[in-house]
This record gives sequence, C-alpha cells and structure tokens, in this order.
Amino acid sequence: MEDKEHRLAQIKADIIKNNVCLNLAKTAKQLVFGDGNPDADIVFIGEAPGKKEDEQGIPFVGAAGKFLNEMLALIGLERDDIYITNIVKYRPPNNRDPMPDEKAEFLPYLQKQLEAISPKLVITLGRHSMGSLLPAGLKISQVHGEPKRYKGLVYLPLFHPAAALYNGGMRQTLIDDFMKIPVIIKKLESEN
Ligand code: URA
Repeated sequence: MEDKEHRLAQIKADIIKNNVCLNLAKTAKQLVFGDGNPDADIVFIGEAPGKKEDEQGIPFVGAAGKFLNEMLALIGLERDDIYITNIVKYRPPNNRDPMPDEKAEFLPYLQKQLEAISPKLVITLGRHSMGSLLPAGLKISQVHGEPKRYKGLVYLPLFHPAAALYNGGMRQTLIDDFMKIPVIIKKLESEN
C-alpha cells in the first residue's frame, strides 16, 4: 500500500514536472490527480474535472460524484473502497469536451496509475475514457455493462453518471450495470 502511494505520488509529480497539457494547466486552478484507495480492486475513470473538482482538487465531488456515491452505496461500497481518476486531469474551460491531443497527453500517466494500482477491474465512465483505453470503434450504447479483457486488464465500460443523471432511461441502465459489478468481481476472484 505504501509502495503504491509512493508510486502514485511520483506519477503526480511527473505530470507537473513534465508540463503535461500546459494549455489546460494555465486556465485550471489545480491538477486533479486521483482519489481513494491505492490498493483498491476497482478503479473508476471519468472524463475531466468540472468546476467543483477544480476547486477541491478531488475527482467526482459535484453532482455526478454524488450520484456515483449513491450507486456505490447500492453495492455496499464507499469512496474509500475504490480509486477514482479521470483521463484528463485539468479542468477544460467551461467544461468543454476534452480534445484528442489533451487525452493523448495524459494517457501515459493514466496507464502508469493503472500499473501502480493493478486493479482487478477498470470501470470507464463515458465515451472519453472508454475511447482512450479500449480499442477504437466501440460504441458505448452497444458495449456498456459488458466486461472486456484487453491488454492484461479487465474493463467494464459504463455510461457517464453526468449523462445519465437527468435521463431516466440511461439512469436506470447505469444503475442496472452498476449492480453487475459485485458479480463480475466475484467471478474474477474465482478465476485466481
Ligand atoms: N465528471 C468527470 O468526468 N470527472 C469528474 O471528476 C467530475 C465530473
């Protein structure tokens, strides 16, 4: 655990030292690196920090984060049981979508975070993190809720809680997909 914490602290320092994504760093208040348990079985990956996240330096603390916490509670988990981060780690101006070059700049650091934590399951939230980590051409409307093995990790693509929050159908689909998480984890554990 201490080793993992130390490794994560190094990766965070590297992002700053290497001037990653200076264009966003200039307008953001701070780097939002990641939060939660470095020893977690499950890592969640969102898109980019919003206003609240930029202010607090912690991912998913706004409305989408509140909804995420409620879904975690449904499966008996708290934020301290999981690790959570974003593909892009500085807030884009006015919460615009992250651009391809911004996602590409952060990708090696996200991959290092995943290597350091070595989770059983990586849950991508929304199309930006899915598109950065899984093969091109997947449609989230078709693959959500289905675990995929890829490059030595198991991924579960889910809808983004911010997109699902105010869309009744998508909201229920996301909750239904969330309920599959304990089953998937149990299955992965029984394979070892
Ligand atoms: N949406 C995201 O994708 N990430 C956050 O940290 C907050 C909202």
